[in-house]
Amino acid sequence: MSGFTRVKKTAAAVAATAAAAATALIAAPAATAAPQPIVGGTTTTASAYPFMMQITDASQDQFCGGTLVSPTKVVTAAHCMVGETTSSVRVVGGRTYLNGTDGTVARVSRIWIHPGYRSVTRGDDVAVLTLSSSMPYGTASYVSPSDTSVYAAGATARVVGWGTTSSGGSSSNQLRTATVPTVSDTSCGSSYGTRYVRSDMVCAGYASGGVDTCQGDSGGPLLIGGRLAGITSWGDGCAAAGSPGVYTRLTTFSAEVTAQVSG
Ligand code: ARG
Repeated sequence: MSGFTRVKKTAAAVAATAAAAATALIAAPAATAAPQPIVGGTTTTASAYPFMMQITDASQDQFCGGTLVSPTKVVTAAHCMVGETTSSVRVVGGRTYLNGTDGTVARVSRIWIHPGYRSVTRGDDVAVLTLSSSMPYGTASYVSPSDTSVYAAGATARVVGWGTTSSGGSSSNQLRTATVPTVSDTSCGSSYGTRYVRSDMVCAGYASGGVDTCQGDSGGPLLIGGRLAGITSWGDGCAAAGSPGVYTRLTTFSAEVTAQVSG
């Protein structure tokens, strides 16, 4: 998606503890969750999430996340790759900070965008990048087509990214992570109506909001049980009550991803 404002991180927001997040799941505080880092979460490192990749422009300015699933293959969102070419993008691994110069920069030799992709609210928001050189980092495994039970409502999902820490706010210079519960199809359908395409999407977030992915997190992982199960795709605002984050339902695209990863 174009027009990500890369803004330096401002005041350190109040860190949400895992305990606070767990409490929120049981008894949601009425109105105001304090602004919490992704939105709601904690800082982490590339070492903790070695498969977490920055998708950047040629100047190494990050605009999306991606997940390393083999030394030369990265899963990301289709909407991140619209308008991009193999010469316009880079993949950066092993770099915790947006302003870092460490890690490994790879060029991209091929961009596969799901052929059905039209817009995030119509589904098919998945892309696979082939790198010109191997990343020396651990890879993530991803769900199989039959693993649909991972999305059972209330399952703990982990999100990771450098996105903004509030709706309309600044990107995080340091990598962040948070956990959010998956949301039932019925509930997400109530939130988003026909924009929620059950076959292609899964929602995650607290009923009260407060913890979510946000702009710049797109393309990054939704991990369930340590495996890649979703891709950060869209939402109405970020972390708002009644508007959970929407992720690509990877089981639906697992076979197509595997075809790209093996091919
Ligand atoms: N579309 C955004 C991106 O490109 C991700 C938005 C996720 N929004 C949300 N409320 N979870 O970075």
